[in-house]
Amino acid sequence: MDRFYITTPIYYPNAKPHIGTAYSTVMADILQRYHKLFGRETYFITGTDEHGQKIQKAAEDRGMNPLTHCDEMAENYKMAWKHMEIKYDHFFRTTDEWHKRAVQSALQKLWDKGEIYSDTYEGWYSVSEEIFYTDKEVIDGKSPSGREVTRIKEKNYFFKMSKYQQQLIDYINDNPGFICPDVRKNEVLGFLKQPLGDLCISRPKSRLSWGVELPFDTEYVCYVWFDALLNYATAVGYEQKGKEQEFERWWSSENAGAHHILGKDILTTHAVYWPTMLMALGVKMPKKLFAHGWILNKDNNKMSKSTGDLATPKDFSDLIGVEPLRYFLASEIHFGNDAPVSIEIIVNKINNDLANNIGNLLSRSTNLIAKYFDGQCPGESDTDESTKKLITLAENTAAKVQDRIESFDPSRALEAVIHLLNEANRFLEEKAPWTTAKTNTTQAGKDLYSAIEVLRISAILLRPVLPEKMAELLNRIGCKKRSFEDAKKWGLTPSGTHMEKGQPLFPRVEMPENA
Ligand code: MSP
Repeated sequence: MDRFYITTPIYYPNAKPHIGTAYSTVMADILQRYHKLFGRETYFITGTDEHGQKIQKAAEDRGMNPLTHCDEMAENYKMAWKHMEIKYDHFFRTTDEWHKRAVQSALQKLWDKGEIYSDTYEGWYSVSEEIFYTDKEVIDGKSPSGREVTRIKEKNYFFKMSKYQQQLIDYINDNPGFICPDVRKNEVLGFLKQPLGDLCISRPKSRLSWGVELPFDTEYVCYVWFDALLNYATAVGYEQKGKEQEFERWWSSENAGAHHILGKDILTTHAVYWPTMLMALGVKMPKKLFAHGWILNKDNNKMSKSTGDLATPKDFSDLIGVEPLRYFLASEIHFGNDAPVSIEIIVNKINNDLANNIGNLLSRSTNLIAKYFDGQCPGESDTDESTKKLITLAENTAAKVQDRIESFDPSRALEAVIHLLNEANRFLEEKAPWTTAKTNTTQAGKDLYSAIEVLRISAILLRPVLPEKMAELLNRIGCKKRSFEDAKKWGLTPSGTHMEKGQPLFPRVEMPENA
């Protein structure tokens, strides 16, 4: 059986979770839930990236010891993800002792193999990005993304990254699905047209003490990105005695492999540093790096901690609810693209797709079944042309969803389900069971049965996005068999099943007055 290992970036605990970090995490959660629905074994990790100057400074500013600061912040992340119904298998913290030991062991390996050397470094450093820049890269005294840089000169240790430049280019060209979407792959290949430098992987303790100590020079700690990227492998057992099988199981075996979800702003570290580190360590490449776009604010800038306009997941979920927010993030934003997000856009999307579409279909059909059929699901579907068309569409939707999820295209997967629901609403409009029920209950019963079947199939297919809401829907229509196979078949609701009409599943959301 295929195994699906998926990761989010591990977040800097220098600020609380916001809608941007929630986006990476919700998307990874949804993808893993779909793969689970398709019958795969999955493993999903997220966590916090706790070392480095930025965190040391954030703790200092609060007059706290860095670990106490991180303990508190990691809890904020855990709480936020719980609130967003994220089901991770492990919450990763780079300050965990076992991870630090594994990082040291990887560093020692590279040192022993001659992949690391010491030299004097002179150049620019951006604290907020924790990245070094050369003179050429610095534009008007700022980093390429406009962050403050400072000049430094010091002895440091370097990883021979440049040595792997051609090997990396070849790997990317030979494995077209490795970096996605294509625009990001091309960006990386463009970056690799320039000679690649070596990577400074140390910080002198005199400047920064908050990190993993280098095993071959105790005056230094390890560069935070080097420590952080390794989390993806150490989380599933890399460089830990007794965990070799686990590592094989999730990382190296033929039918396993890592899928990294990341934002496009951290593409170079993931698509250049990380693969070359793995090449030097002799470890298999991850299966996929998927770089998503940004959620933009009203000025069309990246919503971020530093611009101060960050909105927390709770700001959004208080207005529309947690699961509708998950749905919104996965459906409105084409995975890979940037997207402006405003209250108006959210409210329209939720009302159209959830309240007016699925919610409406559910309340119409269960109300009519309560009124004319005493709450018992009527027999079976009609055999006329429009019903046949609806059945074919419904039976093919599961395959479309699977295909699109496997291509990392969740918004189009959801589009397929919404299309089915739209067609079912149109079908009911055409059949008007609310009218026929008065004169021909048998006919009305057949049409309502078709509506219930569409709801059943759609709810199974939407569960990874709307777990509780769809469980509630399936309960109301008495559906107990909820496997992916059940979503491929028409006619599984037994006649006479009790249907419960309840409160609206997705109440319409009103625009707040001050929006
Ligand atoms: N700690 C590093 C990652 C190390 S992974 C080995 C880091 N952390 S971060 O806290 O800055 O969060 C990064 C993630 O949040 C990225 O995937 C980034 O793209 C995402 N987002 C932050 N703001 C965002 C938006 N406005 N929109 C979408 N995602 C954004 O980088």
